[in-house]
Amino acid sequence: MPARSQGFTIFMTGLSGAGKSTIAERLSEVIEQRYRRPVTVLDGDIVREMLSSGLTFSRIDRELNIRRIGYVASEVTKHGGICICAAIAPFISARAEARARIQRYGRFYEVYISTPLEVCEKRDPKGLYRKARRGEIHGFTGIDDPFEAPASPELVIDTSRLQLDDEIEKIVALTRRDGVL
Ligand code: ADX
Repeated sequence: MPARSQGFTIFMTGLSGAGKSTIAERLSEVIEQRYRRPVTVLDGDIVREMLSSGLTFSRIDRELNIRRIGYVASEVTKHGGICICAAIAPFISARAEARARIQRYGRFYEVYISTPLEVCEKRDPKGLYRKARRGEIHGFTGIDDPFEAPASPELVIDTSRLQLDDEIEKIVALTRRDGVL
């Protein structure tokens, strides 16, 4: 199969409010418009409504959530598609499992959206950090629940410091370098 029709997955991980969904949306537009390839976006908020409704934010449920995302992404990748995942995915083990499953079929790019907690908290687009600080939500990632930063991601993006469009081009460049886009 020519590399350009091979599937791949871009797996974004980072805190709530880090910018994962925004990047996923913009990146999928660039890929669809410039390269005429369809893209499947698995956004945490939508997955939790459509595939993982009923799951909590306990460690076990977060792992199950990421397993489901990884499974769907592996199917998309297997059939030559492009999948962009955008969930917090706070645990190294769950991300490693997704990587292993997807790499059977195509490239896997872990992109760490490393926007610092202070910036995410200042943005607080859903008002959840404020609630977590007040103790109205328990086990909120970054406040009283862990986020295990990736040790060797393919790319790191801090949306508080850099131009978003430039960062999106870096992701595109990674996949172009490998010849899969
Ligand atoms: S994950 O940990 O299982 O990967 P996921 O990305 O699906 O999380 O969902 C994260 C979103 O759920 C956050 O952006 C936030 O809007 C919401 N949320 C609700 N409760 C929590 C919590 N305890 N920790 C983190 N996010 C939460």
